[in-house]
Amino acid sequence: MELINGRKIVYDAYKNKDVIFHINLNNLEWSKAIISVAKSLNKPVIIGATPAAIKYCGGFNTVFNMIKGLIIDYQANDLVILHLDHGKFEDCIKAIEVGFKSVMYDGSEEDFETNLKNTIKICEIAKLNNCSVEAEVGKIGKSKNSEFYYGELTKIDEAIKLKNAGVDILAVGIGNIHGEYPENWKGLDFDLLRNLNVNLNMPLVLHGGSGISKEDLKKSISLGISKININTELQIINAMALKEYFSNNEIMQNKNYNPRKLYANSNKAMEDYIKSILLGDWNEN
Ligand code: 13P
Repeated sequence: MELINGRKIVYDAYKNKDVIFHINLNNLEWSKAIISVAKSLNKPVIIGATPAAIKYCGGFNTVFNMIKGLIIDYQANDLVILHLDHGKFEDCIKAIEVGFKSVMYDGSEEDFETNLKNTIKICEIAKLNNCSVEAEVGKIGKSKNSEFYYGELTKIDEAIKLKNAGVDILAVGIGNIHGEYPENWKGLDFDLLRNLNVNLNMPLVLHGGSGISKEDLKKSISLGISKININTELQIINAMALKEYFSNNEIMQNKNYNPRKLYANSNKAMEDYIKSILLGDWNEN
């Protein structure tokens, strides 16, 4: 069984001013929560795996076969797209070799000409393997330990060059940040997003979806964002639910150390959150 390519689902969302959520996996529990909820709601979802999460889980084959196994067991092949998130050149090649049908080449740390050259190569290889490609133009910011890097806004001429390289979807820097947003965050640059949408006329991706208000997410969807990436919010929800379990349960009583008990409420908390976003009303019309 081949996994599905994400292109059609995201293009359909773009045409309908709708959105597909990309939720990052961090381990089996995450993967199961995402896939089981998508199936129970009959809603498509993109399950994103960063090279760091892939390494943590054991490697590309482990993640590919774990997701493929869950897709088979939950009969969710038409709903779930496994996607390499923020891959370097070699990560994309490896992912395609293993069977991923959706990859992101992140050349944002390279100079633009190298980013463009590598994106063209990845697109050529991906197309031969029925794999869709996301690329990044500009730089998405990040936050760590209350320090913030605001990234670099996407330049329209560079975005057009990446579109012409053959990418299916494009991740843009419009003031978005991976991780937590600072209290004095300036917000998304909707004028830039509107301009990008008019000039590119293709599905755009909003990374750093955690912590952006529902209202701003909806506005960004109306302006061409068709894929929203979420990781931090689910990590916080999981950690808080585990903290509650450890505060409320004596580990050595009632076999509370059994992992199937100790992860039960964090799994439920993750499922509830995933349900709430997949069922959300994201279309402004
Ligand atoms: P957050 O962790 O800020 O939700 O961003 C996730 C993301 O963009 C993954 O590519």
